Amino acid sequence: MPNPVLGPVKSIGVETILERDRRLRPTLSWPHLIAMGIGAIVGTGIYTLTGVGAERAGPAVILSFAVAGLVCACAALAYAELATLIPKAGGAYTYTYSVIGEVLAWVVGWSLILEYSLACSTVAVGWSAYLVGWISAAGVDLPPMLLSGPHAGGIINLPAVLVALAIAGLLISGTRESATLNIFLVVIKMSALALFVALALPSFTGENMQPFMPYGFGSHVIGGETRGVMAAAAIVFFAFYGFDAVATSAEEAKNPGRDLTIGILGSMAACTLIYMAVAIAAVGAVNHVLVAGSEEPLAFVLRALDHPFAAWLIGMAALVALPSVILVMMYGQSRIFFVMARDGLLPQRLSRVSRRSGTPVLITAITGVFVAAVAGFFRLDEIAELANAGTLLAFILVGACLMVLRRRAPDLPRVFRCPQPYLVGALAILGCVYLLVSLPTLTLIRFAGWNAVGLLVYLVYGRTHSALRREGGEAVASLEPAPK
Ligand code: ALA
Repeated sequence: MPNPVLGPVKSIGVETILERDRRLRPTLSWPHLIAMGIGAIVGTGIYTLTGVGAERAGPAVILSFAVAGLVCACAALAYAELATLIPKAGGAYTYTYSVIGEVLAWVVGWSLILEYSLACSTVAVGWSAYLVGWISAAGVDLPPMLLSGPHAGGIINLPAVLVALAIAGLLISGTRESATLNIFLVVIKMSALALFVALALPSFTGENMQPFMPYGFGSHVIGGETRGVMAAAAIVFFAFYGFDAVATSAEEAKNPGRDLTIGILGSMAACTLIYMAVAIAAVGAVNHVLVAGSEEPLAFVLRALDHPFAAWLIGMAALVALPSVILVMMYGQSRIFFVMARDGLLPQRLSRVSRRSGTPVLITAITGVFVAAVAGFFRLDEIAELANAGTLLAFILVGACLMVLRRRAPDLPRVFRCPQPYLVGALAILGCVYLLVSLPTLTLIRFAGWNAVGLLVYLVYGRTHSALRREGGEAVASLEPAPK
């Protein structure tokens, strides 16, 4: 009997009929997975939000990066243990379904739509701004009505829409090809960050670090703006996530046990190191007040240090490589929709896998259109904050699943064992809660509204169509055979 409040729980290690019939094709090995992690992590967060962080925290934005990195490292350790123990597509949604129950799993899946789709939309809008700047620098003027949504007096942000649709098309053509292209893009954007550190760090001076924490540690409103180390951490948190997209690809990993651990922890460690170096170099080389005023802070710092060509290169790298974030996050989103549909919580027709490419075509196309629509019409900062809220909720549940499962099933064979699981799980939960409440109040209200709508959809559709609730019943029996 399912728990009346939390709903039924999926069994770990047991494959349902639906899962057996509708499997994704294992094509990915660990270099693809590390690149997938870095591909999703390094993007608008480090390339543009470093400036917003400096504005909110001053030189102590370095601490904000450290706090956000520590919280994400705890979440990544929890992910690594759960992803290797439950190597099925769906990430946090699937773990919650297997450990806590269907109702919270639905809430997590619904929140993950914010994380994956809205992060894609955010990056598409950021990318569009780089593109427009680059084209205008070449003396070509584009019609302004087609470069921003109604909130900024335009009709639609067409470049953002087009990049989102192009990447959906790439994903539909096949996972492996997309993952290989992603490795190439990852090399470009990591090289650009390394170049930035190499050129900016030698100009570090202690003077630029004074006063180190001008707005204090917590998150508080000063002069109508949210300031403080934690306020900045709640924004730069955006820069760190994406590693969880690796976990959503568990069914497509050739050797999930080893490759997922390397993919999740390796990408997280590499990004935390380079981010700390970038943050120290940025606010140490140029006064933080100047960095804060820039929309392209890394290029700005290099120009201020008299490296105009390197600044141009950084801009180019952002233009070429930011789409890799959209690529991986959209991939993760389509897999989460895919699994929710396979579980019956969304219409099962959506979970069909194409004979030719082995990818879920319909759901990927729907994801692409949704991401493009949001990118075309909405404001960047507001969607980024909502994306953070959704991610934080998912990370809280992953921390909880880690601890509950250690207690409930300590002897399950774990390929990767998270060290100090109760400390790591508690830190992940407390850290995420602290970051969540450091977000602006309006974002929290919107987040609550989103989940209220989600619960309504669950009560009207998901609850009655859940394959697990009806296992062995007509829902399973009426499924069409999967394409072989
Ligand atoms: N971490 C990703 C970025 O910074 C979402 O763009």
